[in-house]
Amino acid sequence: MPIVDPTPENIRLAGEAIRQGQLVGMPTETVYGIAADALNADAVTSTFCVKGRPADNPLIVHINDLRQFWMVAGSLPLAGEKLIEAFWPGPLTLVVPKSLVVPMVTTGGLDTVAVRMPSHPIAQALISESMTPLSAPSANPFMGLSPTKAEHIDAGLMGALFSVLDGGACQVGLESTVVDVTKPEIRLLRPGQITAFQIEQVLGLPVFLGKEPERRSPGLYRRHYSPRTSIQLVDTWCDGFAGITLGFDQEAKQIGLGNDPSLYARHIYDALYRLDQLGLDAIYVEKPPDTPEWAAVNDRLRRAAAVLD
Ligand code: TXA
Ligand code: MG
Repeated sequence: MPIVDPTPENIRLAGEAIRQGQLVGMPTETVYGIAADALNADAVTSTFCVKGRPADNPLIVHINDLRQFWMVAGSLPLAGEKLIEAFWPGPLTLVVPKSLVVPMVTTGGLDTVAVRMPSHPIAQALISESMTPLSAPSANPFMGLSPTKAEHIDAGLMGALFSVLDGGACQVGLESTVVDVTKPEIRLLRPGQITAFQIEQVLGLPVFLGKEPERRSPGLYRRHYSPRTSIQLVDTWCDGFAGITLGFDQEAKQIGLGNDPSLYARHIYDALYRLDQLGLDAIYVEKPPDTPEWAAVNDRLRRAAAVLD
């Protein structure tokens, strides 16, 4: 099924398809997702199959009001309450204890659930039309680049979707910040546009980076978000390199994304996607500064460049 305009009728049809257990390509402010009824174990299972994603890598459940939050969450620690107040709707995912109605397949067998309230109007409208919380992993095959435009979605994967609602280019461009608030020690599991510093400001508490050493870390694979072409991160840009710089020039083989972290983040996946189509030997990427504002971008670049053992 093709990419369609997000007309009220197409959103209504997509919602109906979701209620029947089908999958829909959904734009959000971060990246495009594969939406399904998060409470329908069969629909969620087909999401894992379509992505080729391991069953122990849990999905984020997307909601559009607090009534739905209380359908899927078992409780809300105070830190979570403060973060919801500060950042929802928006690109922040909270890991909280799960309720019984969320199938184990959605949470990859965990007793916690990741929940987020997207700010994108088409995502909100699709959740309303579906009348159920929506699981939505990024709409890429496992380990691939997350799509930030409808046309980035892999053709094979697209064939398994009822439709893709075309919301144009995603504003944020990187996946949501994931924060675990289930323990007194608050943990940032995935950096994103909302930074550790902003979270610390709201909570008045330090935020720990990464998972607890003894805990399972679903989804935090070293190689992730990768194009097919290998990526080389370089300190110094040399003439003749093809890839991405911190400058501003725009040629097919040399894309300048500038030195503003949020604009860079908005365009990085699109730039990697375009360079990946050129059949280059390698995509060179001029390393952004190692400063907190660049944490989410640097995290994705490091993962994209990681070579599989
Ligand atoms: O911005 C986003 O979050 C996008 C859009 C579509 O909303 N979605 C997304 O989903 O990036 P996905 O499936 O590609 O990434 C979900 C991340 C994974 O790193 C996963 O391990 C983590 O969230 N996660 C989900 N449930 C979790 C849980 N119960 N505990 C810890 N991590 C969890
Ligand atoms: Mg993903």
